[in-house]
Amino acid sequence: FNKIGIIGAMVEEIELLGQHVQVTKETVKAGITYYEGQFHGKTVIYCKSGVGKVNAAVCTQILIDLGADCVLFTGVAGAIDLSLNIGDIVVSTSCVQHDMDCSPLGFARGEIPFHVRSEFVADERLVQLAVDSSNRLFEGRSLKGIVLSGDQFIASRETVALLRETMNGACAEMEGASVAHVCDMNEVPFVVIRSMSDKADGSAHVNFPEFTVKAANNSYAIIDDMLRHM
Ligand code: ADE
Repeated sequence: FNKIGIIGAMVEEIELLGQHVQVTKETVKAGITYYEGQFHGKTVIYCKSGVGKVNAAVCTQILIDLGADCVLFTGVAGAIDLSLNIGDIVVSTSCVQHDMDCSPLGFARGEIPFHVRSEFVADERLVQLAVDSSNRLFEGRSLKGIVLSGDQFIASRETVALLRETMNGACAEMEGASVAHVCDMNEVPFVVIRSMSDKADGSAHVNFPEFTVKAANNSYAIIDDMLRHM
């Protein structure tokens, strides 16, 4: 890859990059700042998208227009797979928008009507790099699976059960599938890496800020390790 795009949604998810990337160029577009520079000898361009699918979609398109030829997403998520604990890692095999729902018209939940596909498959090589890094750093605490995205903070056991049983999700967050969708439209390879900040069961308000910092740092550690091995 010639220019590696890296996106996080929140400041916690991106600030460690800011401390390690030698930034040589800044571009502001649509209110988002894109920082370009060197990281472990590679050219990277990173940014903070803001929360939610629209912010992430606009951000991804601009990142690609600025020359990113692959996209890594780093951040936190709510666990859906029962084996996951706080801090554990999910590497996306694919991403689906769980809040896309035209079921009254006979479409499956998550299916985008009349679109080429609704499940966006992550790049095999990037997935393998991320899995290798998570095995090195978080042995036994990571899995590959489906990342579900929607403009909702999931906070109930019932919804978690629904997302697990009907959509086979490993974790829920608010950006990955829109990044994946835009990458797919542009034929740009991507992978989403998420560390669990909560179990999406309604207890997140108790310790979300604390666990978010911890989880975001775990996700960053994988990006750091991946870049060393790319
Ligand atoms: N990001 C972190 N935790 C989340 C949750 N429970 N739902 C959606 N996005 C999240």
